Amino acid sequence: IPVDPFDFIAFGGTGDLAERKLLPALFQRQQAGQFLEPTRIIGASRSKLSTEEYRDFARTAITEHVRAEEIEPGELDRFLDRLSYVAVDAKSGDGFAALEQEIGDSDRIRVFYMAVAPSLFGSICAKLKEHALVSLNARIVVEKPIGRDLASARALNDQIGGVFDEHQIFRIDHYLGKETVQNLMALRFANALYEPLWNSAHIDHVQITVAETVGLEDRVSYYDRAGALRDMVQNHILQLLCLAAMEPPASMDADAVRDEKLKILRSLAPVDTDNAAKVTVRGQYRAGASAGGAVKGYKEELGNGESTTETFVAIKADIANWRWAGVPFYLRTGKRLSARASEIVIAFKPIPHSIFETGAGRVHANQLVIRLQPDEGVKQWIMIKDPGPGGMRLRHVPLDMSFAEAFNVRNPDAYERLVMDVVRGNQTLFMRRDEVEAAWAWIDPILAAWEDSGREPQGYTAGTWGPSGSVALIERDGRTWHDPN
Ligand code: BG6
Repeated sequence: IPVDPFDFIAFGGTGDLAERKLLPALFQRQQAGQFLEPTRIIGASRSKLSTEEYRDFARTAITEHVRAEEIEPGELDRFLDRLSYVAVDAKSGDGFAALEQEIGDSDRIRVFYMAVAPSLFGSICAKLKEHALVSLNARIVVEKPIGRDLASARALNDQIGGVFDEHQIFRIDHYLGKETVQNLMALRFANALYEPLWNSAHIDHVQITVAETVGLEDRVSYYDRAGALRDMVQNHILQLLCLAAMEPPASMDADAVRDEKLKILRSLAPVDTDNAAKVTVRGQYRAGASAGGAVKGYKEELGNGESTTETFVAIKADIANWRWAGVPFYLRTGKRLSARASEIVIAFKPIPHSIFETGAGRVHANQLVIRLQPDEGVKQWIMIKDPGPGGMRLRHVPLDMSFAEAFNVRNPDAYERLVMDVVRGNQTLFMRRDEVEAAWAWIDPILAAWEDSGREPQGYTAGTWGPSGSVALIERDGRTWHDPN
């Protein structure tokens, strides 16, 4: 369905995010027929580029990040024609008058996308206001990190909130744009089967794993100041936890969904900081092997040999409410792990009593595995009888729903969905201010406990599943991590 014509102003328009994600996503949406004319894309950044040079940049970005066979003839030129460029300096304000002129006096939907460092959000917002660019149908999109703790997140939210109303602010968590993450809502709320079982009476525990094989990439200065807890848990993993744990919202309306997520965030039991070493694990990778080759350790990659930043986190989280009391949520994420694999595992309780003889084999508890990426799909593990006349032998098998096999369609990038939701003004998949702050309120004491302990993160060899402490964290409770392979 096409969206109304809009002006998309990309601050940081020559940066990495614009190159890898935004321009390719916008291109795909044009190609899908969602743009009505006149829709325009205006790149804005400090580089002194002409519009022609910006179009060259965009051409390269798209040909590098969209597969050649997916680009239909003529579409790329049609896309580049809607691009223009204005050099702006957020600090001095240079170029904002030119931007004002470029945007002109239109009542089209206006999307200001902040693909820039958060330290610039405040000054860009102030300049937009000064130049009267914040029209009634203007929207602002901000990327994480929204702060590095509760206080700084509040300050940032205040800066943006001083210029834009909450209904105009779109805080992106790109995990919410992933197909399988949205599918979690379909699975839970479009099926009668699971919801009656979705509680502490039937679920033993939940695991959320977001494993990556990449290391630091080119993000040294950001990542070393952030670490895995801020980079992945405060946002992506807690959002996954919310969707898995929330009550059924009254509707898919943005605030109905976000109200329920907020309740979960506020019900998270504060991590027992006296026992932080038992319920949280921090790790940092050492040299090892990944994706078939030798890789450096984190400190060597960093180049300075000194850092206590964690590249791995595991946490045992508890949700203190009626539905989840006594059901631990084991969370883990890390870089340079054994495989790229993200999944949510709902581990059901074992049967209360087995009628089968020991020779029949072990009766495994049912598991629902929602595979977020790669190989998106859903597997419901059940017990069956091994076929054949050899007597009653039991087997643990998956009812396997692989999206690639079931639907022969391209899996759109999360940004494609999210960018169009911004234009439509639909905030369901975006984080509200109170959610971001509630997430930090839970994270802050963990950060403080780690700092107080003065302990270094545990080392783990690149290419493994993280430090031994992570295995101990779950095995102490008589459970094991689900193997995503
Ligand atoms: C980002 C983090 O938000 O998500 C990165 O900053 C991480 O460190 C990335 O690599 C993972 O996203 P995806 O979509 O590749 O799972």
